[in-house]
Amino acid sequence: MNGNHAEVCTSPEWAEHIQCEILPALTRDIDLGKDMLELGPGPGAATDWLRHKVACLTAVEIDAEAAAALADRYAGTNVEITTGSAAALSYPDESFDSVGSFTMLHHVPTLALQNKILAEAYRVLRPGGVLIGSDSLASNDLHHFHVHDIYNPVEPASLLGRLQTLGFDKITVVVDEVLKFIACKPTSQDQRDEDQTARLRRD
Ligand SMILES: C[S@@+](CC[C@H](N)C(=O)[O-])C[C@H]1O[C@@H](n2cnc3c(N)ncnc32)[C@H](O)[C@@H]1O
Repeated sequence: MNGNHAEVCTSPEWAEHIQCEILPALTRDIDLGKDMLELGPGPGAATDWLRHKVACLTAVEIDAEAAAALADRYAGTNVEITTGSAAALSYPDESFDSVGSFTMLHHVPTLALQNKILAEAYRVLRPGGVLIGSDSLASNDLHHFHVHDIYNPVEPASLLGRLQTLGFDKITVVVDEVLKFIACKPTSQDQRDEDQTARLRRD
């Protein structure tokens, strides 16, 4: 990330934005469960809040320096930090009750890689688990902010279809000052209900 991020993402104002506006809104009607995975924690603005909401918080960060700094900060707590890419998670299928990605996807260079990250989130979620996320919306200002940096904002109109294609259901996509999304991994009962509805529609 460029120097603009170093300044903004480590600021108290950014932490307040994430912790007082984004996360409470995203989690208002959601049970995060016991085990949560955070993708791309960066300096940890969301990590600081989320770790009080779950028993175990695991975070995967691609930047080794940022991951090491977080691992130091959270040593001996309920947070485990791993260096790696969210596009190739090392965890077995169905390891987590919830997965979160905040202001991260626009740093992923291609649509295919973003989809791979969403697919990995789906894979490691337990049935009934939930993916929550937020991201900045495309704008000229955001583009300039990312000078000499990756800038690949998520197109909100396509997100619903992308999540559905991966198998998520009960999807909410909100576009206001930022993009917010919530998507669930169906349980086998959800799947049976859906099949039943499809059968009734056909008959
Ligand atoms: C703008 S920062 C956001 C940090 C934090 N989530 C927040 O909202 O304050 C984006 C973070 O995502 C990380 N990141 C980008 N691509 C990643 C990937 N494929 N896997 C894991 N982390 C990634 C970056 O290294 C960076 O730390």
